[in-house]
Amino acid sequence: MKENLKAKLIELKKEKNAVILAHNYQLDEIQEVADYIGDSLALSKIAMSVKEDVIVFCGVKFMAETAKILSPDKKVILPVIEAGCPMADMVTAEQLRSVKEDYPEAAVVCYVNSSAEVKAESDICCTSSNAINVVDSIKSKKILFVPDQNLGSYVGKQISDKEVILWQGFCIVHNRVTIQNLLHIKEKYPSAPLLVHPECRPEIVEQADFIGSTSEIIREVKKLKDKKIIIGTEKGILYTLKKQNPDKEFILLSEKLTCMNMKKTTLKDVISALENETNIIEVDERVRKKAYETLKKMILL
Ligand code: 13P
Ligand code: SF4
Repeated sequence: MKENLKAKLIELKKEKNAVILAHNYQLDEIQEVADYIGDSLALSKIAMSVKEDVIVFCGVKFMAETAKILSPDKKVILPVIEAGCPMADMVTAEQLRSVKEDYPEAAVVCYVNSSAEVKAESDICCTSSNAINVVDSIKSKKILFVPDQNLGSYVGKQISDKEVILWQGFCIVHNRVTIQNLLHIKEKYPSAPLLVHPECRPEIVEQADFIGSTSEIIREVKKLKDKKIIIGTEKGILYTLKKQNPDKEFILLSEKLTCMNMKKTTLKDVISALENETNIIEVDERVRKKAYETLKKMILL
């Protein structure tokens, strides 16, 4: 059955001149058929350089929107339009405009997990793999960081000469992991290294042996000699980790690390959206141009 679906998708991709991009948190069946798998930064850059006319973005809405902002001439499809990111919804452009008035001297850095409108209101964008470099590159001594307080707090601790003002947003998945979960796992696997995503709570990040984006975690694991490794990010990452490291055992820091939005997209959804050309992402051109500048500054860094 699955083989039939895969064959159908290959046909459709040819017919529509389409490429499939998938985030590291997608279901295994999506990662299996993807042309490219990656973290937010890598996928944004790939979206800019692909030759195909249609980009099927298997991820959540802000990712497909980012691809559209960067590649306005492409048709960008998000197979399940309800696949959103609750953290991105924790800041609106209107709220941001209002808070900016309280900090007129601050530069606004927005995490890529945000809407096009919020990006358009910000000075520069960042992802989890370049956030420290982005904040470090800014002249202003005050930074308003939106919306992830955990990533912002991590970045603030790495850069001593700047004040980072935190928005109160968070990832509902990574933020679920508690210090009790960590102590429990560490008791069971005391010598296993801990690799975490910076969207985790500060008390978790402080205990980690490595902190990075999903792709950075994947790269780091390859270098490690350890046979048991604790992973503190969404469980979809285990697909690539297991494939690339069949001799290693991966222990998820908590079973709570499942993003229901990332799991909404199935192979059938991808086929249906591509076949019918539905769920096409559009961004208002005035907003897009401003958001493009915010993203371009990050990409050129
Ligand atoms: P990265 O893949 O960029 O690390 O992002 C993690 C994430 O939460 C995406 O929603
Ligand atoms: Fe949003 Fe968190 Fe899911 Fe990423 S893992 S899409 S930040 S809710």
